[in-house]
Amino acid sequence: MTVNTATFVKSVADLTQLPEPNIPEFAFIGRSNVGKSSLINKLTNQKQLAKTSETPGKTQLINFFLVNKQWHLVDLPGYGYAKVPVEVKEKWVHLLRQYLLKRPNLLTVFLLIDIRHSPMSHDTEFLQWLGENDIPVSIVFTKADKLSAAKIKILVENYQAHILQSWDQLPPIFITSATTGKGRTELLSYISETAEIFKT
Ligand code: GTP
Ligand code: MG
Repeated sequence: MTVNTATFVKSVADLTQLPEPNIPEFAFIGRSNVGKSSLINKLTNQKQLAKTSETPGKTQLINFFLVNKQWHLVDLPGYGYAKVPVEVKEKWVHLLRQYLLKRPNLLTVFLLIDIRHSPMSHDTEFLQWLGENDIPVSIVFTKADKLSAAKIKILVENYQAHILQSWDQLPPIFITSATTGKGRTELLSYISETAEIFKT
């Protein structure tokens, strides 16, 4: 699948401002600094469509991008960033959860996890919450360029075993790098195939 066009639609700070839910939508979620915005840029072949930063907490609104005039990619604020005041953090989490629960055209949530980290409670709790609420989820490991293939294999197997402690079956899993483009083709194919479901 080829990305021909990718444009910024809007940023929203509350749920009354969401775009019409009339096309398939795919959201990217995960801890601050995990690489959500970078991956969206890589997928769309644009350097600065989604704003990235070395400082965690860069994305503070729900940002919508329109790809090939067919579906939305959604860049969400990161969770688990300690330096944001508690009130702000709670506001983000509330916004995030309400968006995820109420969006009828949301086809998949991509939960991003830094491949170098062993399972962390924020991620596993969030995964659990998505499952409990029947929100379709895929796991996307990021920053694969930082490790060898052998190391990645071991870490992914560990993670899978961890997930299977509380899940009957594994969600789709992707191994990506926004630096090298690893996993880009697989993720785009998955998105375009899943988007087809919306039409039927
Ligand atoms: P917030 O918006 O703060 O929640 O962060 P984010 O998840 O959107 O992360 P962002 O894309 O801004 O990336 C954070 C940092 O990680 C930046 O310095 C990126 O350059 C770096 N980064 C992101 N993806 C990769 C990757 O695949 N490989 C490497 N080596 N660095 C990456
Ligand atoms: Mg971001």
